[in-house]
Amino acid sequence: MVTSANSLKKGGVTILVGAQWGDEGKGKWIDILAENTNIVARYQGGNNAGHTLYVDGEKVVLHQIPSGIFREGQTCALTSGVVINPVEMVEEIKKVQKIIQVSPDRLWLSARSHVISPWHIWLDGKKEKEAQNPIGTTKRGIGPAYSDKAARVGLRLGEYIDPVRRQAWFDRMSYESEDFSKLAKENAEAWEAFHGAAEKLASYVCNAEQNLRAAMQHSQTILLEGAQGALLDINHGTYPYVTSSETCSGGAFASLGFAPKYVDKVYGVAKAYVTRVGEGPFPSELHDEDGAYIAKQGNEFGATTGRPRRCGWLDAVALKYCQEVNGFDGIILNKMDILTGMQEIKICTAYKHPKLGLIKEFPWDGNILAECKPVCETLPGWTDPMPTSGKIADLPENALKYIAAVEQAANCKVTMVGTGVNRTDGLFL
Ligand code: IMP
Repeated sequence: MVTSANSLKKGGVTILVGAQWGDEGKGKWIDILAENTNIVARYQGGNNAGHTLYVDGEKVVLHQIPSGIFREGQTCALTSGVVINPVEMVEEIKKVQKIIQVSPDRLWLSARSHVISPWHIWLDGKKEKEAQNPIGTTKRGIGPAYSDKAARVGLRLGEYIDPVRRQAWFDRMSYESEDFSKLAKENAEAWEAFHGAAEKLASYVCNAEQNLRAAMQHSQTILLEGAQGALLDINHGTYPYVTSSETCSGGAFASLGFAPKYVDKVYGVAKAYVTRVGEGPFPSELHDEDGAYIAKQGNEFGATTGRPRRCGWLDAVALKYCQEVNGFDGIILNKMDILTGMQEIKICTAYKHPKLGLIKEFPWDGNILAECKPVCETLPGWTDPMPTSGKIADLPENALKYIAAVEQAANCKVTMVGTGVNRTDGLFL
């Protein structure tokens, strides 16, 4: 069990997964737990993720590179299940280089990962615009890049950095698709940038999965950073209002290239309330003053798109489901301080459906979920300020009651609590 920021099992593999619909504040916890870690790896998603952090007082937003890059001596890896926007990646590396040296031995980009091209970004926008029921994607080309991967017409990073193979892909796509061919002519600037980024990235492209296996043999401590959240998982989330990758702990291994048996611990990061961006069912969503209060206090605007996030009470039905799917060893309950000052706080412990009655298990069917009303337990709030370091037990009494209720409803222990925005603000058991 993690009892302080630097007690991850040495030589072990730990996974941090979002336990809601993303934006739970995983980046901050990766930052805290990475202190004694050798490697931080991302296994899915792309630049749809966003993580704002402050390095020496300077605000930096990263979308693809894990925040571990700011720790000297630490390596960051992006493995086969990730999709990479090469132009954005070059910009991100430049941004990081201004603060700390990034060299290919500190940043491993998997040759097996798939590339997001201007074509994928264009398709994402077009589909969203024309859809009767848009998903509310980040329009970063994520879905189309994964679609091409599954259809076996995608371009892998290892092939992208080879000018001959990249051109062969480009020519084949132009030949096979009129739209592609038209876009290639109309949007010459974007394609020029796309081709131009290849050479700049080439030195970072490697057999990242093999490097990870070798690192494990040398007893390196590895932290895996899930992007988005379990409820946005392509298999287990609220399909079709999900992202296009496997966000859950089980899906990670398909990307990482090593077996699940090497994992030491899995932690789920949940906010003390719930937010969602984009469309899709959200039973505990608030449309009242409480929702507005949470949104304001929590500054709930997307780091990638700037969109306001929908806010609601903590949904313990969904959290229990995420715990079951991911096998959490503990929940990291984040942004507890945002609820300070509320008179009453609610937890959704069941759903009520007009035809099916009381539902206690998270339904597979989004249509059913959309018709559910939350059944809530009400707890007293707290006004006392919260400590930002030390033990969970030091929290105000009513905050502890709230945590106990979350633990009971989600059937999982809360092992860490976030009470502030700073890099080090965290409470442990
Ligand atoms: P896509 O990943 O851009 O295809 O978007 C699919 C869905 O996932 C949309 O509802 C997005 O708002 C959501 N989504 C994607 N990335 C994130 C994230 O990092 N945080 C929260 N929601 C996300």
